[in-house]
Amino acid sequence: MATSYKDLGLVNTREMFAKAVKGGYAIPAFNFNTLEQMQAIVMAAVETKSPVIMQVSKGARNYANGTILRNLAKGAVEYAKELGSTNPQIVLHLDHGDTFELCKDCIDNGFSSVMIDGSSLPYEDNIALTRKVVEYAHKFDVTVEAELGVLAGVEDEVSAAESHYTKPEEVVDFATRTGCDSLAISIGTSHGAHKFTPEQCTLVNGVLVPPPLAFDVLHEIEKQLPGFPIVLHGSSSVPQDEVKTINQFGGKLEAAIGIPEEQLREASKSAVCKINIDSDSRLAMTAAIRKYMAENPSHFDPRQYLKPARENMKKMYIHKIVNVLGSNDKL
Ligand code: G3H
Ligand code: 13P
Ligand code: ZN
Repeated sequence: MATSYKDLGLVNTREMFAKAVKGGYAIPAFNFNTLEQMQAIVMAAVETKSPVIMQVSKGARNYANGTILRNLAKGAVEYAKELGSTNPQIVLHLDHGDTFELCKDCIDNGFSSVMIDGSSLPYEDNIALTRKVVEYAHKFDVTVEAELGVLAGVEDEVSAAESHYTKPEEVVDFATRTGCDSLAISIGTSHGAHKFTPEQCTLVNGVLVPPPLAFDVLHEIEKQLPGFPIVLHGSSSVPQDEVKTINQFGGKLEAAIGIPEEQLREASKSAVCKINIDSDSRLAMTAAIRKYMAENPSHFDPRQYLKPARENMKKMYIHKIVNVLGSNDKL
């Protein structure tokens, strides 16, 4: 028996994105794999009165089980209400769906939004696959994110990365022929905690500053598709205080460099209305756990070290919502 996201109290992204594009802010899309991440996301969204996208990757489904994560998201809506939100706006989104079958399974099982990532396919194949997912999803009022352009890897030279940027001349044809509801683009972000090599950065006042995002490409895309919802993946900023804590308490993270927050703040004011953050949550969790473990070597109750981890993630989510994306007070 299929489960509609509407029965779980979730919403799709349509109205949320339209308001965000108009209002010049972005909706946070936080990945979750664990109960503590879910709790921290909901607490942060309720406290800041922000809409939020909770996203599940294929890896998250493999780790935690799709049924459990779907039910956690159902719990998230109830939990938000319990925390005092009268009108929680929570999306359950599939992150980087790679096949029609996976997207269909999520649509049939309570997801309100899916991403079909055909960005590594030839252009026409990406269109055909995206179109197929859109046709199925829209029957159930589920919204679809597609991707055009390839996100750079850390090994790419900046100049080489440029060749993978989304081509503004393709976006109208792609959006029209696929019918997608939002479009993830490549303008210099990438996944993980190592987005740039130190050699790609400039040293400013002792801080390594990476090359700027390709705002010219973003603005050209906006010109081609006025008001169309744009998504940025790979948007963790890799807070250096968390990296320092991890390394101070036994970790070994070298040259971890993310996207400067001012650039994300700038992007949020444009048609960029969804910003994906996963690595920063991993860093916040790991830093708090490492610190707690080092300072309390005799403790072994997981609740003791997961509580500060949850607090640290919540603090980070609130910071992103209020100081970077500007989605607070938008319910
Ligand atoms: O874009 C990737 C997300 O950070 C999810 O990562 O596939 O390791 O769960 P994952
Ligand atoms: P980060 O690795 O920069 O957090 O990106 C997450 C992401 O894009 C999830 O789809
Ligand atoms: Zn991504």
